[in-house]
Amino acid sequence: MKVDGKDTRPIWFDPKSRYVNVIDQRVLPHELVVLEMQTVDDAIFAIKEMVVRGAPLIGITGAYGVYLAVKNAPGGPADSDYLREECARIRAARPTAVNLAWAVDRVQQKLEILSAQDDLLEAARIEAGAIAEEEADNCRQIGLHGLRLIEAVNRHKEGGSVNILTHCNAGWLATIEYGTATAPIYLAHEEGLKVHVWVDETRPLNQGARLTAWELGKAGIPHTVITDNAGGHLMQRGLVDMVIVGTDRTTYTGDVANKIGTYLKALAAKDNQIPFYVALPSSTFDWQLRDGVREIPIEERDPDEIRYVQGRGENGLRNVLLPPEDSPAGNFAFDVTPARLVSAFITERGVCQASEEAVRGLFPEKTGRP
Ligand code: MRU
Repeated sequence: MKVDGKDTRPIWFDPKSRYVNVIDQRVLPHELVVLEMQTVDDAIFAIKEMVVRGAPLIGITGAYGVYLAVKNAPGGPADSDYLREECARIRAARPTAVNLAWAVDRVQQKLEILSAQDDLLEAARIEAGAIAEEEADNCRQIGLHGLRLIEAVNRHKEGGSVNILTHCNAGWLATIEYGTATAPIYLAHEEGLKVHVWVDETRPLNQGARLTAWELGKAGIPHTVITDNAGGHLMQRGLVDMVIVGTDRTTYTGDVANKIGTYLKALAAKDNQIPFYVALPSSTFDWQLRDGVREIPIEERDPDEIRYVQGRGENGLRNVLLPPEDSPAGNFAFDVTPARLVSAFITERGVCQASEEAVRGLFPEKTGRP
C-alpha cells in the first residue's frame, strides 16, 4: 500500500543484505522505523514484543524466522535437532494466532527432503516469500467479496455513506496488502463509494487508534476514532451499518478469536440487528479445534501494557502510568465470539455462513478433526 506515495509493506526481504526488514509497529503512528531481523531471536522478539502483529503478518514473520534459522544454522540436514528446536521456539512466540504454526510448518515441510545448506536456504526464502504473496492475494480477494456487501448497503442508502465499525487493526499492517477487515473498505473507496469507518481505539495497545487510523488516514478514507465502549451507543442510534473485524484464529465450526472486546461488539450488533462480519484468509482457520470458547488459547500479556499508556509528548514518545501504582492489572489479549453471533465470514473464496457445513463447503480440501 502507499505511504506518502511510496509502496510500503510491513515486512520484506532485502536482496542486498539477505536479511528481513519489518516496520516497527510499536512506535507508529508517530515514528516510522524499520528494523532488520538477522536471527531467529530477532524474529521471536519481533513477534513477542509486537514489533509485528496481526495474525497473517505473525505467520509471515514466523516463515521468515525459519529462513533465518537456516541462515544461521551450524550445518546439517533439514531434520536436524537444531532446525526442529528453532521452529518450535518460533511457533511458541505467541499462542493465539494460528497462522504462526501454520506458516512455520509449511516452510519446515518444504525443507524436509533437502539437505544441502544452499538448497535449504533458498527453499526457505522462496516459501516464506510465497506465503507473503499468497496472503496479499487472499486479502485482495477478501476485499472483492466484501465489496459486494458494502455496495448492497450503499444501494439501500441510495448512495449515502456506509458506516463501518472495526476493532483493532486488521489492515495491511497486520497482513501484507489491503488487510482483511479493511480490504472491502479500501476497495469500496477505490471504487468511489462513500464509506466512513468507526475505529475502536482498542485498549490496551490501541492498535485501532494508532494503526488503523494511520492507515485509513494515509489512504484518505474518512474515519473517526472512538473509545472501545462507544460502539453499542452508535449502533442504537443507527450510526453503524455493519461491523467488519479480523480474527487471529477461527475454528472450522465458526467460533472467532480476535482482539479483546470483539465479543462485546458482536453482542451489541446482534441486539441491534446489525450485520457482524469476520474477514479472514484460509490460513486463519483452525481445522483441529471444534469449541473455540473452551479450546482456543487466549494469550495473557504483561499487565504493564494496561498500566501504562504510550503517546507523543513534547520530547517524543513517552509512557505514562494510568492506575494507582499498586493496583494489579490483568491483560487478556483476545476473546472468542461464538459462531451464532457472526453474520458471515468473508474469505478469499467468497462469503459464507459461520457454520461447519458452510466453511467446509468453501474449503472441501481441508482435513482435520471430523
Ligand atoms: O495483538 P494483535 O495486534 O496481534 O491482534 C491482532 C488482531 O486481533 C487482529 O484483529 C487479527 O489478527 C486479524 S489481523 C488481519
